[in-house]
Amino acid sequence: MANIVIVGTQWGDEGKGKIVDLLAADADVVVRFQGGNNAGHTMVVDGEQFISHLIPSGILQKKTCVIGNGVVVDPAVLIEEIDYLESKGMEAGPDILKISDRAHVIMPYHKLIDHGREKMKGAKKIGTTGRGIGPSYEDKATRRGIRFVDFVDPETFKERLQTIVPEKNFYLEKFLGIETVDLESVLNQYTRFANRLKPYVANVSMVLQKAGIDGKQILFEGAQGTHLDIDHGTYPFVTSSNTTSGNACCGSGVGPKDIHGVLGIVKAYTTRVGAGPFTAELHDDIGDQIQRNGAEFGATTGRRRRCGWLDTVILNNAVRLNGLTGLAITKLDVLGELDELKICTGYEHDGQYISNVPANLNQLAACKPIYETLAGWRQDIRTIRRYTDLPLAARQYLARIEALTGVPIQIVSVGPGRDETIVLDNPFSR
Ligand code: GDP
Ligand code: IMO
Ligand code: MG
Repeated sequence: MANIVIVGTQWGDEGKGKIVDLLAADADVVVRFQGGNNAGHTMVVDGEQFISHLIPSGILQKKTCVIGNGVVVDPAVLIEEIDYLESKGMEAGPDILKISDRAHVIMPYHKLIDHGREKMKGAKKIGTTGRGIGPSYEDKATRRGIRFVDFVDPETFKERLQTIVPEKNFYLEKFLGIETVDLESVLNQYTRFANRLKPYVANVSMVLQKAGIDGKQILFEGAQGTHLDIDHGTYPFVTSSNTTSGNACCGSGVGPKDIHGVLGIVKAYTTRVGAGPFTAELHDDIGDQIQRNGAEFGATTGRRRRCGWLDTVILNNAVRLNGLTGLAITKLDVLGELDELKICTGYEHDGQYISNVPANLNQLAACKPIYETLAGWRQDIRTIRRYTDLPLAARQYLARIEALTGVPIQIVSVGPGRDETIVLDNPFSR
């Protein structure tokens, strides 16, 4: 029996949804433990695409799906996803989907504050997804948040709103100079949401404990990526939760002894949406070509993703921060038209060689990439299903990643479809 955590190693959108959907076949329970609907996880099964923002990517494999206490939940988005799945004949009822009683609710004022702050920052904005994620985590930390257990209790919900809304409206009107919220209409609308979601609410920590006792395997689905982590990422150009593997425990209510492996998802190159330093970013035709071939547009906001070469400085940061036991390399097929490839293996700052990510953002922004060059394979590899059938140059590229990180590659993805995958060593088979 094994419980495995999946995390993004870069700045998100590494292909976590695809790999979670694939590995969910071997899991019994799939758990989201942080973030919210800032995430956009894409699964492609039999040519049909599904993008999940909140419901764990195990739902298509009909596995028990759990939204942990560390997640911030927009109830309208969750209901939309449930309705969508059910309209497609898939099961998404309270028997298969559980929401932690301790998860926090994203309220309309959180979204207004998110937008208002970004607008006020102008050119200095973070480029958030505008989903109210930061303001919601902020309320959690300052003990003004509304948890699901309070949300589905009409008296408590009303009482909480009556306390919070005047303060939020003051801030919205007087500081941000934008629209305020109407307490009564929020109460009415969100009471309808609460009634709909009440049957899904559970003590998730206990659900997971029982799963363990029953010998079930758990897959923890990280959102965002290591370098968007609130502590370890490129602060302040980060999200508002811990995206690294340790939070699988805090964000769902399991202890560290119940985690047996951590799979880091690595896009074969690097992308980033939103603002912030990106040392190996390409501002040339090759960057455009990768962006085009990889269809690099955000799954949540539709924004064009910035593209660059693979960067093993950030990858090794992810190896250390997450305790990675294996790697899944995704989108290798996207590089198939290039004559040669580069891997950033170090940074140069003020004439000094740096092999780690500096905390000082000005220093990081001033870093220049040091590259090594490898041969391209100039071949379409999407139909390949065996590692040994990959072109030699592709295998050399993968071997170089293993050598530079010291972590074994367990999965290679050569297309968006569930079946477009080469599994070398399934993390669940231990
Ligand atoms: P996530 O947020 O980490 O789940 O990643 P996203 O779903 O936001 O972005 C990954 C995108 O790449 C999606 O459109 C996937 O369908 C697609 N994708 C995943 N793996 C592969 C792959 O190996 N090759 C190609 N061409 N596309 C892939
Ligand atoms: P998945 O799970 C890529 C980025 C935003 C912005 C920053 C803060 O699909 O990989 P937020 O709305 O969280 O306050 O925005 O974080 N961001 C993501 N980038 N993939 C994601 O999720 C992201 N979630 C947030 O673009 O730069
Ligand atoms: Mg995404």
